[in-house]
Amino acid sequence: MTFSCQHKVLNRSLYNEMYRASLLNPEDFWREHGKRIDWIKPYTKVKDCSFDQDNFKIRWFEDGTLNASSNCLDRHLETHGDKTAFIFERDEPGYSTHITYKQLHSQVCRFANSLKSLGAKKGDRVVLYMPLIPEAVVGMLACARLGLIHSVVFGGFSPEALASRLEDCEARFLITADEGLRGGRKIALKENADKALSLMTSSCLEKVIVVANTGIGVSWNQGRDVYYEEIIANMSDICDPVEMAAEDPLFILYTSGSTGKPKGVLHTTGGYLVYASMTHEYVFDVQEDDVYWCTADVGWITGHSYVVYGPLANGATSVIYEGVPNYPDYGRFWDIIDTHQVNLFYTAPTAIRSLMKHGDAFVTKYNRSSLRILGSVGEPINVEAWQWYYDVVGNKNCPIMDTWWQTETGGILITPLATGEPQKPGCATQPFFGIQVALYKPDGTRVEGEGTGALVIEESWPGQMRGIFGDSKRFIEAYFSAYPGVYFSGDGARRDEDGEVWITGRMDDVLNVSGHRIGTAEVESALDSHPKVVESAVVDFPHPVKGQGVYAYVTLKEGESSDNVSEEDLRAIVKQQIGSFAKPEIIHWAPNLPKTRSGKIMRRILRKIAAFKESEIGDTSTLSNPESVIELIHSRPHQKI
Ligand code: WTA
Repeated sequence: MTFSCQHKVLNRSLYNEMYRASLLNPEDFWREHGKRIDWIKPYTKVKDCSFDQDNFKIRWFEDGTLNASSNCLDRHLETHGDKTAFIFERDEPGYSTHITYKQLHSQVCRFANSLKSLGAKKGDRVVLYMPLIPEAVVGMLACARLGLIHSVVFGGFSPEALASRLEDCEARFLITADEGLRGGRKIALKENADKALSLMTSSCLEKVIVVANTGIGVSWNQGRDVYYEEIIANMSDICDPVEMAAEDPLFILYTSGSTGKPKGVLHTTGGYLVYASMTHEYVFDVQEDDVYWCTADVGWITGHSYVVYGPLANGATSVIYEGVPNYPDYGRFWDIIDTHQVNLFYTAPTAIRSLMKHGDAFVTKYNRSSLRILGSVGEPINVEAWQWYYDVVGNKNCPIMDTWWQTETGGILITPLATGEPQKPGCATQPFFGIQVALYKPDGTRVEGEGTGALVIEESWPGQMRGIFGDSKRFIEAYFSAYPGVYFSGDGARRDEDGEVWITGRMDDVLNVSGHRIGTAEVESALDSHPKVVESAVVDFPHPVKGQGVYAYVTLKEGESSDNVSEEDLRAIVKQQIGSFAKPEIIHWAPNLPKTRSGKIMRRILRKIAAFKESEIGDTSTLSNPESVIELIHSRPHQKI
């Protein structure tokens, strides 16, 4: 076994050829590419999928068996055992450790043996509530080794949110840490976990496994709580992986929809691993000696597919960083990149914008010449941020992979590739192999050629979610009923004259002003191009004549104020880039926009504030800055209509 990434460098014609083959004959294409991972029993069936409501099924590589953790670890041991799997960078600068594939394997086996000795058995649910430390990855892989279904809950979630997830998936085990560290700030994970457990009305939870991360003493429930370090101490580092069917569940990950409580998105083993590893290799053009860094937390899907499963299945070397981009200052990312000679860097637009706001000097202070490819994920990247990322961070040398995908899709579906061609800032570009993208009109017909529509996927792909845990009906209702027979992403998109795809944002964020459909992302991108604007969020508000009006929350750069930026300038930019009809009627100066802990702007809340419906805002405790909501209610510039 050699290094797992062996693709040829993609040029346009090779991409076209592979893409055509993947759609023309998906069976043959995936039969071949499914072999990129190791199977215990090779599959003979490749694809058995139907989005038809009466005969709904999604099954990939169905009769094959495998183990995800041995694909991520064991298969590299012989030739790459001493290769670094992770470079772990602590919150505090200057402390990093290298963990080889052999060491990671040994830790995972020891922890898996500990879980076994606690009585864990295939199919049990295990929740992880962890900081971004190596033990989080060890925990996930130990679950995968035994066929336990892990569900990682982001460490920034409140005890209430943790409790509802523990209850929903009926977890038997919880893995947490005494504390997390982010920017010098301590996150009381064990204390939160204790609170969560006290809130639960029904509980199958038997054991809480606590990693001593900071080593502080925490309150203890004898009989229920055990220290990770103690239970692994005398364990053997040999643990046979459990043979899993391709369609056996690998993990559940909760994600918020536009309605209802968070959905437990369920992914299975074979197809997911094939898809996560293949997209990771091709999108980032991973080479044997590359150092790759995806800044996502393991609490999100990006952390699952592009911190854990994709890179490890590919035998890559990755950085993981416990902390935040602005600690001890705004140059930390670039410092880490220089220190570890990072070649491939994958982050979110919100991080880029937050650093951009503090000027170029924090970036240019560092060399960054190791960088080869940059990636972006999670939200539309506005042109200004794209350009800064490209010009300043990448020194105009690195293509930007603006990757569009979702928790539900398991891996990247639409993305540029490193073909060496000129890029369009903010354009998600083209479908990955096997992804049959279509844009649908409201009447359910396809948009052909240039145009905009609901972004749907017409055929299944191996990384697709298989269901909502415990609620099979909701899966079909949520994703396959708006446009029967196809997967509806909830996003809107535009196809340009070159056939390339631009994501316009969630359909629930699309405005309709006097019959004109306006993508909030388009208006924001225009506003953001103003030199004094850092970011903006556009929502609708009820308008007696037009149905909806455009309402813009605008954050100015540090040192700027509404005294020296005119509302008319901003309107003119929107008029210029989109048209008069899209001009914001209300501009609300917003020093802070309410954001989730993962950095997404909460437009739902902004819409309520704009509509004077603050009584309907509900729980803001999961926001990273709940105080921003009150600030905005008090600074509202308009009267109720
Ligand atoms: C949005 C994150 C524009 C989109 C991987 C999607 C994006 C939602 C992009 C999924 C992108 C993600 N350009 N929008 N490159 N990537 N989105 O489940 O609205 O946390 O539906 O998965 O993020 O968010 P999720």
